[in-house]
Amino acid sequence: MSDLAGFKKQAREELFELLRIPSISTDPARKQDVERAAAFVEQGLKRAGMTRTELIRVGAGHPLVYGEWLGAEGRPTLLLYGHYDVQPVEPLDEWISPPFEPTERDGNVYARGACDDKGQTWILVKAVEWLMRRDGRLPVNVKFLIEGEEECGGESIAAYVEQHPEALAADAAVICDSEMFAPELPSICTGLRGIAFGELIVEGPKTDLHSGVYGGAAPNPLMAVAEILTALKGRDGKISIPHFYDRVAEPSPEEMEAWESLPFDEEEYRKKEVGSPELTGEAGFSVLERVWARPTLEVHGIRGGFTGEGAKTVIPARAVAKISLRLVADQRPEEAVEQLKAAIEGVTPRGVRASFNLLHAGAPSLVDPDNAYLKTAASAMEEVFGNRTVYIRSGGSIPIVGLFNRYLEIPSVLMGFGLPDDNLHAPNEKFCLANFDRGIDAVVRYLEWLG
Ligand code: BES
Ligand code: ZN
Repeated sequence: MSDLAGFKKQAREELFELLRIPSISTDPARKQDVERAAAFVEQGLKRAGMTRTELIRVGAGHPLVYGEWLGAEGRPTLLLYGHYDVQPVEPLDEWISPPFEPTERDGNVYARGACDDKGQTWILVKAVEWLMRRDGRLPVNVKFLIEGEEECGGESIAAYVEQHPEALAADAAVICDSEMFAPELPSICTGLRGIAFGELIVEGPKTDLHSGVYGGAAPNPLMAVAEILTALKGRDGKISIPHFYDRVAEPSPEEMEAWESLPFDEEEYRKKEVGSPELTGEAGFSVLERVWARPTLEVHGIRGGFTGEGAKTVIPARAVAKISLRLVADQRPEEAVEQLKAAIEGVTPRGVRASFNLLHAGAPSLVDPDNAYLKTAASAMEEVFGNRTVYIRSGGSIPIVGLFNRYLEIPSVLMGFGLPDDNLHAPNEKFCLANFDRGIDAVVRYLEWLG
């Protein structure tokens, strides 16, 4: 196919096919679907002209999809990363169209994974395929590494990168899994928060108890969860874990200045993106600082007792809260988890036992904006979008960025094409189809220039 417009149209069709596969990595019942998504991606890499592809299995986890084309002797090698797994879809009844039936509305495609990260992963695959079809070769060498566990901790890829750095040797990684600061504003993400996600488990009475008969004498694990959480983070947004902030690094004055000049309207952000009566968080820090450069502790779900319709008067024997710490440079996940555990011990009320069960962790990362691979990407995006590229950070986490840096000693170029209102991890996730097309253009340009 020699016309790019037709090629992009077909690329959309393929993306929609991928979006129909419910590859929810955290759900054991979806294992077969995750496998199907991996096979689909591998086929895509074959079609894109990779000379070798492989499904890499590490332990019992979801496969990594690998593909390479190394025919550009003397040219740089790029490690192209994405993820084909997605987040769960609950609450289902809030979706306007079903999460796994990709639906076009107002120039967007709505589906779970549309932006995070199937749509953006497909940009990389299709940009490479286009160059391959047009020229019969690529201007650079590429190694694709596309994982299926990003949304549930990325254990397989972490082990693989640590054990086989030579197989992944490259000059830079390119990742399309972040957002633009605003529509039409090409953005490169130079900092991500780290994460430590786990369960706070609180156990009290040996069995559920009648709350009238025993209330007042028996400890209540759900109440204890509330007490522990409010003792860990105050109403002022400050985390009260001893020594938690010791390693928190301040952004440089230049970075702060750059953030000041970003087109950010706090009131609009509150209304349109967050939709709450007020914003919260640590006093003395701007919103962007709070979400990009400060750690946080959040609770994602609390289980225990009776949550069905109607009333049931019970003191539960056990309660569990899913919580996470978001970490910033130079905090260390292992250390933060130890601090958290010690803090929990210190604030657990009488009558219950509390423990923290870590499910996954990833380090925060910072990328040097002066790196040549980054600058070339910024120029490529600039050309396609017709606006100056901004350097931003993000409060989200992509743990592999830190591991690429540590084990492969390469920078990651985070070219994001998502939009702030794409509803990542939420109902009605979407991806702007114009950005899908421009993403392909930008990556094509980028590879051409690097070659
Ligand atoms: N793509 C996101 C991370 C992201 C979102 C980066 C927005 C930049 C801007 C990624 O898929 C993600 O959601 N990661 C998880 C991490 C994980 C270990 C569960 C996250 O941040 O919660
Ligand atoms: Zn995600």
